[in-house]
Amino acid sequence: MITYNDAQKKFHIGNGIISYTISIQEELFAAHTYFGRYLTDGGDSTLPFPEWSTGPNPSQVKGRHFSLNTLPQEYPGHANGDYRESAFSIEYSDGSFASQFTYVDYEIIQGKPELDGLPQTRGGNENTETLIVTLHEERSNLFIELYYTIFETHPVMTRSTRLVNKGSEQVSINKLMSLSVDTLTSELELIQLPGSWARERSIVRHPLHRGVTKIDSKRGTTHHSYQPFLGLVSPQADEHSGDVYGFHFVYSGEFAAQVEVDEYDQTRIQMGINPEHFKWQLNSGEEFQTPEAVMVFSSEGLNGMSQALHSFYQSHLVRTDYQWKERPILINNWEATYFDFTEDKLLELAYEAKQLGIECVVLDDGWFGHRDDDTSSLGDWQVDSRKLPNGLGSLSEKIHEMGMLFGLWLEPEMISVDSELYNKHPDWVLKAKGRDPSRAREQLMLDYSKPEVRDYIVSTIDKLLNEVPVDYIKWDYNRNMTEHGTLSTDYMDGEVMHRNILGLYDVLDKLTTSYPSILWESCSGGGGRYDLGLLYYMPQTWASDNTDAVSRLSIQYGTSLVFPVSSMGAHVSDVPNHQVGRSTSLKMRHHVSMSGLLGYELDLSTLSAEEKSEVKKEIDWYKANRSLIQFGEFTRLLSPFNGKNEAAWTFTNKEKTQCIFFYFQILAEANDWFKTVKLKGLDENKRYVLEGTEQYYFGDELMYKGIVLDPMLKSDFSSRRLVFKAVK
Ligand code: GLA
Repeated sequence: MITYNDAQKKFHIGNGIISYTISIQEELFAAHTYFGRYLTDGGDSTLPFPEWSTGPNPSQVKGRHFSLNTLPQEYPGHANGDYRESAFSIEYSDGSFASQFTYVDYEIIQGKPELDGLPQTRGGNENTETLIVTLHEERSNLFIELYYTIFETHPVMTRSTRLVNKGSEQVSINKLMSLSVDTLTSELELIQLPGSWARERSIVRHPLHRGVTKIDSKRGTTHHSYQPFLGLVSPQADEHSGDVYGFHFVYSGEFAAQVEVDEYDQTRIQMGINPEHFKWQLNSGEEFQTPEAVMVFSSEGLNGMSQALHSFYQSHLVRTDYQWKERPILINNWEATYFDFTEDKLLELAYEAKQLGIECVVLDDGWFGHRDDDTSSLGDWQVDSRKLPNGLGSLSEKIHEMGMLFGLWLEPEMISVDSELYNKHPDWVLKAKGRDPSRAREQLMLDYSKPEVRDYIVSTIDKLLNEVPVDYIKWDYNRNMTEHGTLSTDYMDGEVMHRNILGLYDVLDKLTTSYPSILWESCSGGGGRYDLGLLYYMPQTWASDNTDAVSRLSIQYGTSLVFPVSSMGAHVSDVPNHQVGRSTSLKMRHHVSMSGLLGYELDLSTLSAEEKSEVKKEIDWYKANRSLIQFGEFTRLLSPFNGKNEAAWTFTNKEKTQCIFFYFQILAEANDWFKTVKLKGLDENKRYVLEGTEQYYFGDELMYKGIVLDPMLKSDFSSRRLVFKAVK
């Protein structure tokens, strides 16, 4: 899949679906020449160069035609005549920072090398190949290795960078991006997924403009405010057609993702660890490995990109026994009780849940220490015997006896100032020396860069899991990093963010590989840390603390741009909704939640007999169809972001014999008329029956003529579910 043409000094990374090409210019510089739809041999042409360039000319090249300021590059440096954003910045021991790296060598290897200590996509059973392009600076004897891996059946590549210090001096890395890609055009639009607490991942799209557009995190981890993802699309591209390029970071720490349009209307895309708080000391003989970034290309619009990413992450990133296993329907007690529960109350909830067909009972925050609100006890992971006098083991046993799974909430990266752990180990927290740490929810972050802190957490959770049979863990994280400091004297504060994340990955790796049969779900004030780094360890994420069905339409629609449905926790909750005060129909709440991983988050005893019977029916339906919903092909049809008061999507199986269609109307309109919706991704030649009717459609008819919905949705917050099945 990867070839090198020595005559043309050209690399082609191609798999019949996508191509990525690099050419070595003047025998010294790795130039980027193409990324997109597959090209025979990666193309036959060479880069055109002008006779004369206005930019500075590198000393190694004779003549004035060649300038790094205009060359599309694979890994641009700085202070070397390229005035655009650099991919790296290194400070040498004498205080200088000018670097002159040039191409020296390459290697093509079978498979995908492992990245030590980082979450990463795996080759698995699929044929993968990796190109390693090496750049070198003679003066410092530093090497930069650029890794490119291609997968045989996906329109996807991964990239990462390694800096190797073979020199005699210590250097500081101030910036080392995972990925840098230059294109010759800026006729593109940028798509990103900004949000906030309870308003996660809205889809925002705008044309590129001159200058740098940057999204990032400076909070120690990823956050609701920006997803580490950049989409670049041709202006004509929509959900179903047009060229789409996606860049997505496999990392949970502070990231920077940016696009620069330069003076020649070329575009530079970059993604990596955010340089803002980062400074890494690299001693002689050491190396630094960046996290990896995923690149995807689709000529079939945004759905094409999303489907490619869903399938790629599902098969090459997600792990544990639940990778392909149907996810249980759970009841979480959070919105039912908040901190105010007893064993009896929980068992009552469990009993009600069992009657309805729910499969797992999750005990959320407040079961440990003396935690009656969010101001205390994080770190003291011992049961609160005031609330649970018989202990957690007894609760778990009783729930198991009812034939259900038992799940538990933990927030293991945190410590409350009001806790026994803090009294014992005030030095285990992250804080800058000589400065008072800011508080959030009266809690501080544990310093996961310290091995003793990690050992304590792993052994505490290990002990808990040995004593109490637990089938599901909700791993929460509810404050962001401030001050960016450590009390450790082993390293400088500039390393604390990344070391803390590496510590988290170490803990998660130990726990999730020791307990692969537990269903791990990550959470951070809802979907604040919905990222690929955590998805590697935990196959699902609580998508948002906002459980309102209307808000969830946008949150889940936006989330689906990059994340598979199998990762998206979605619960039916009470009305009026606790976050927005809106009352939506039980039907719509179900249809929205069952478009993800269906669960419940309300006091089931408050439901009427009629409502309970509806819940039971919906649960039975979901159980019969969840494998298609969780692992089938998801297609967005109508966007809640386009202001048209509606949303629609489908789930289709691989054989295209089954398609589940959901339509949502937000507000009812008077005198509304028929509406046509065209389905996608069916088999033109198959004949389908609409379940529960005698109505038949050909596949081409469903896709090109569409289905006509009668104007029967006469109330606000209403929805439809239609199931089409192929007939012989
Ligand atoms: C976070 C989570 C919620 C809940 C609370 C408990 O906000 O997103 O689902 O678990 O913490 O404190």
